[in-house]
Amino acid sequence: MKTEGVKYAGSKNKLIPFILDAVGPLKIRTVLDAFSGTTRVAQAFKNSGITVIANDVSEWSRVFGECYLVNRKPKKDYAEKIEYLNSLPGKRGWFTKHYGGKTNGASSVQTDGKKRIWQVHNTRKLDAIRKEIDKIAEDNIEKSVLLTSLILALDRVDSSLGHQVSYLREWSARSYKTMILKCPEFKVDHLPHRVISGSALNAVKKCEVDLAYFDPPYGSANEKMPPSRVRYASYYHLWKTIILNDEPELVGAANRRSDAGDRESGSIFEDFRRGESGKYVVVEAIEKLLTNTRAKFILLSYSSGGRATLGELNEIIRSLNCESTVSKIDYRQNVMAQMSWTNDWTSTRGDYKEYLFLIDRFGQGIPQPRPHFGMRTA
Ligand SMILES: C[S@@+](CC[C@H](N)C(=O)[O-])C[C@H]1O[C@@H](n2cnc3c(N)ncnc32)[C@H](O)[C@@H]1O
Repeated sequence: MKTEGVKYAGSKNKLIPFILDAVGPLKIRTVLDAFSGTTRVAQAFKNSGITVIANDVSEWSRVFGECYLVNRKPKKDYAEKIEYLNSLPGKRGWFTKHYGGKTNGASSVQTDGKKRIWQVHNTRKLDAIRKEIDKIAEDNIEKSVLLTSLILALDRVDSSLGHQVSYLREWSARSYKTMILKCPEFKVDHLPHRVISGSALNAVKKCEVDLAYFDPPYGSANEKMPPSRVRYASYYHLWKTIILNDEPELVGAANRRSDAGDRESGSIFEDFRRGESGKYVVVEAIEKLLTNTRAKFILLSYSSGGRATLGELNEIIRSLNCESTVSKIDYRQNVMAQMSWTNDWTSTRGDYKEYLFLIDRFGQGIPQPRPHFGMRTA
């Protein structure tokens, strides 16, 4: 079964078949996805019959988790409410004032010189729908399903490159479409999935599971961007504002919420500075995370575009003194290759690749990954 989610920097959507192949032979029954983001990987674990605990610091990940993992009501129970929300006439409100841009019909360039993320016909709908969700949702889970439906609809008509720190000068083709809410594609089961919110460092101490899956941000190697902008809180500030509907104070050209502004400190996993030991703060955070994890196995995702280098990660993992493997994934070629520890671990720049580290914390033994249909193992 397919997973669903918004456009998201670092989403592991394309890696899901490889992740399931790595995990399949471990025969795990419970997993903690400690940086769950869109929850696409968590959804895939759930769809494979595994009980999932999803954790993330962001509001939107909690909402997605409650919708895709925890909700027990069938889709038909939402049909009437979603139809009603779609039927509401648009009205000008706070979202239109700050995020709605106009067209002049003849040109695709935004008219008042300010770049906006949505066209005004869609922010008017957003203004009408968002208030109504609070009135019609019968409980928090229902509210999360309706909010997910609204966020997915807005994501389909945005005028952005996939994040919310700057918007396109010319309207994207999809922004002309009228946003339409649909029921999210969740699967209902009766396993005791859970969603928790907070730092992964706390989550690993609380959760005893068979597998912990980690997909931390790692920081961006893009030196031109101020660190405060390449943070998830900045990237997706609008999803938080829509969820909280708190009309926050706004800063900067993209109208970010002030708590996602340049002066606010971010997550330890998004800290690009070097600490006193000379290591990147994010690398030290990963070290602490791995050491404190109480799972039988750890699966760690790493993309070569981040600040932490493969060599640094390798060092941390080796210091745990556990059996481990690392696979290099080229999803465009559909190839997963197990690497040996003797490879050159430092030179990953210019070679964008995804890696999966599998760590056997307590000596259970690591079976060979199961290749999915059509995949080549090198
Ligand atoms: C690379 S993304 C995860 C993407 C996810 N695997 C997916 O496929 O959608 C990293 C996530 O880490 C979250 N994050 C940042 N700092 C965190 C922390 N200290 N604890 C938990 N989550 C954190 C961000 O909100 C972001 O969703």
